[in-house]
Amino acid sequence: MSERKGIILAGGRGSRLYPITLAVSKQLLPVYDKPMIYYPLSTLMLGDIRDFLIITTPEDQVAFQKVLGTGEKWGLNFSFAIQSEPKGLADAFIVGENFIKDRNSVLILGDNIFYGDEVEDSLIRSKLQTSGATIFGYEVSDPNRYGVVEFDNNGNVIEIEEKPENPKSNFAVTGLYYYDSDVVSVAKSIKPSSRGELEITDVNKTYLNNKKLKVELLHRGTAWLDTGTHDSMVDATEFVRVIEKRQGLKICCPEEIAWRKKYIDDEQLLKLAHELNSSDYGEYLRRLVEK
Ligand code: DAU
Repeated sequence: MSERKGIILAGGRGSRLYPITLAVSKQLLPVYDKPMIYYPLSTLMLGDIRDFLIITTPEDQVAFQKVLGTGEKWGLNFSFAIQSEPKGLADAFIVGENFIKDRNSVLILGDNIFYGDEVEDSLIRSKLQTSGATIFGYEVSDPNRYGVVEFDNNGNVIEIEEKPENPKSNFAVTGLYYYDSDVVSVAKSIKPSSRGELEITDVNKTYLNNKKLKVELLHRGTAWLDTGTHDSMVDATEFVRVIEKRQGLKICCPEEIAWRKKYIDDEQLLKLAHELNSSDYGEYLRRLVEK
């Protein structure tokens, strides 16, 4: 198993998507042909992560276990943990303390979708960073909805602000964060914000103040998609549908990534295809082997 541990944070109330999320976790909703959590899971798989903690609400844990299993079928290892209340993104490191132990980790939000070659390259680069933190900035038209990075004239990061009224740049902080093993103690040291949450932005500010924060900017050729509103959910679905239809290749298909990385062989992939029965998804997996 690879050294760095992966955490997928898939809790929260999903209240911006009510009534759809009254009974179903947001991160299990479909984005075109697969559950939303397949996308962040695939992203970390592309970064060679194989050992995962999946954090959910108490009520949704069983559903996630049903969808994902133990990870073994994909050559991965999944542990599950519960976040009793949405206390903030940084709480993931307190919930995940026993899983992380003294290892480096990477956190991805269960509703973040990345697409593009560059993401994989950045992940592989970040994997090699053994101390400090790396976060990723992405240019957006509506930065005030996110954590925002402020730069000085030489392009150095001088500040990060959570949902600022007057953003100092258009670079949002994406929901993908690489940390060294200090992150647990950093998360424990911060205080809840005015909205009552342990903010990941405060964790990042601590690393920034200690001169241990690296911000990688993702280029415009990369897609970082939003799933925060009913409209953006449809946009994300449409984006995935258009690319997949054009290429005949699936975006963020964990079975395919596991097979291409040789975590599973042809026979195991065909077995997974068989389990998915007559769906187009199962047919796609079957075709990969035949090709
Ligand atoms: O998506 C990137 C943004 O994510 C960053 O730019 C912001 O700095 C960061 O604070 C966060 O902002 P959001 O307002 O989008 O966070 P939200 O509260 O929507 O939570 C993101 C996901 O994490 C969501 O799927 C629910 C889940 N979550 C959230 C909280 C607060 C949890 O599982 N537990 C929690 O306690």
